Amino acid sequence: MQQLTIKRPDDWHLHLRDGDMLDAVVAESAKHFSRAIIMPNLVPPVVTEADAIAYRTRILHASNDKRFTPLMTLYLTEQTNPEDVVNAARNDTIKAVKLYPAGATTNSASGVTDIKAVMPVLEAMAEHGVVLCLHGEVTQGNVDIFDREKIFLDTVLSPLLKRLPTLRVVLEHVTTADGVAFVQSHSTNVAGTITPHHLLLNRNHMLVGGIRPHYYCLPILKRESHRNALVDAVCSGDKRFFLGTDSAPHTKNTKENACGCAGVFNAPNALSTLAHVFEANNALDKLEGFVSLNGPAYYGLPANGDSIRLVKKSEPIETATQLQVGNESVVVFDPGEPLYWHVEN
Ligand code: NCD
Ligand code: ZN
Repeated sequence: MQQLTIKRPDDWHLHLRDGDMLDAVVAESAKHFSRAIIMPNLVPPVVTEADAIAYRTRILHASNDKRFTPLMTLYLTEQTNPEDVVNAARNDTIKAVKLYPAGATTNSASGVTDIKAVMPVLEAMAEHGVVLCLHGEVTQGNVDIFDREKIFLDTVLSPLLKRLPTLRVVLEHVTTADGVAFVQSHSTNVAGTITPHHLLLNRNHMLVGGIRPHYYCLPILKRESHRNALVDAVCSGDKRFFLGTDSAPHTKNTKENACGCAGVFNAPNALSTLAHVFEANNALDKLEGFVSLNGPAYYGLPANGDSIRLVKKSEPIETATQLQVGNESVVVFDPGEPLYWHVEN
């Protein structure tokens, strides 16, 4: 029996939602992860320090797990005040500001339409070392959905970092070879998170032999060469990359729909998926860095004190599962192949 003990992981990009959905999903993250960067794309969004503190209280109440620490983010809008952001970031539980280009993804309508409109906030963040978490895609209708990440890097992020070279940026859910190269070509203030599903799947998995709405997420799955670049980046042990699951629950009805929502709910089997991918690439020794060490190092936090154990068994984990949320259900990420790595707390 193969096994692996690693420091308890953290999730540097997580959607927990609110209300009944929050109640239903939070334990799925808390049982494996110690800390998580919580995305602020509620309706209405988490904009102010007070919003973040109130949301954090609701998460702690729902989670009932003393070990789980939500790290909060503020949703950047064109009305955000630079001083408010700098003051909020003095609060230990608020770790970053999230920029959604308006219209880029689920609940991004209050996001930024023109980066110039938020330049004073970004300047203040650069000056005070506040982390910017970025949904790195352009939204212009004439840009092909598969090119949106690359065009964002070329036309928005490159110029931004030329102007503010010390800005601390996490390029979230990197999905392309271009995104990997971008992170690698900058200094250590630029990092990238990568999801389990982008490491395992390419766009054929989503579109060949029938359309699979539960694989639809944003940024959208890309071609195999891009997946390979992501795998190479994490398996090389490059400290600039760390886990952000982007676990993003939507109800089954809103996914299996004529206009289905974007988001993959992978919190329950994210670590089993990752162990599977790292093992397949002879890089199990790099898993701990990716899930437990590189993220805290970037955020200036210690690694977790306790550990988890991953055990490879002959029986695969249960994957075709759903979570009940009131009268509805949420379909858990199905990797499409058996996963033999079980997480033991
Ligand atoms: C996320 C969601 O549902 O909130 N969806 C997704 O496909 N990843 C938003 C996001 O991170 O883009
Ligand atoms: Zn997300």
